[in-house]
Amino acid sequence: MGKNIVLIGFMGTGKSSVGWRLAQKLKMNFLDMDREIERITGMPVNELFRRYGETRFRSEEKLLANKLAQRNDLVIATGGGVVLQTDNMDALRNNGIIVGLEASPQEILDRVQRKKGSRPLIKKDVTLEDIKEFLDARKEFYDCADFKVYTGKKEIETVVDEIIELLKDRLD
Ligand code: S3P
Repeated sequence: MGKNIVLIGFMGTGKSSVGWRLAQKLKMNFLDMDREIERITGMPVNELFRRYGETRFRSEEKLLANKLAQRNDLVIATGGGVVLQTDNMDALRNNGIIVGLEASPQEILDRVQRKKGSRPLIKKDVTLEDIKEFLDARKEFYDCADFKVYTGKKEIETVVDEIIELLKDRLD
């Protein structure tokens, strides 16, 4: 059984769309952590934040990261904040290769603005300056990736092929 491929990165770097296509191409199963948390709790991430707060979301995220450490052959799209708890990364790294997706602040802004209102940590009138500050505050956490891939202004297919090329010696 092969290791999981774990995609990390800031909101809007393409983890879900790249992950889905990567899994399809590698004939692996795809799991999106936010969608799985929604399935488990029975409510959208936005509502979970609003009703029970970020702490509750982070504890669901941690429980799930630990569960996923027992599974194999998955492409996992994490939520952008999974890296904030080092325990999560220890668990996911246990049986996974960590791939960091990156994009410029402007590209991230464009992407998160396209999905206005769907991310609890992004306010509706978010500015480029806000994104830059947020990225700076998290930079060191995203540095834990085994590999990094730049996704901005690239087709999903190109990013997926780059990841496959990077991992070719590590995939079974
Ligand atoms: C978060 C990112 C979101 C989601 C939650 C918190 C974060 O996922 O997990 O809103 O802290 O960066 P995406 O990265 O898929 O937007």
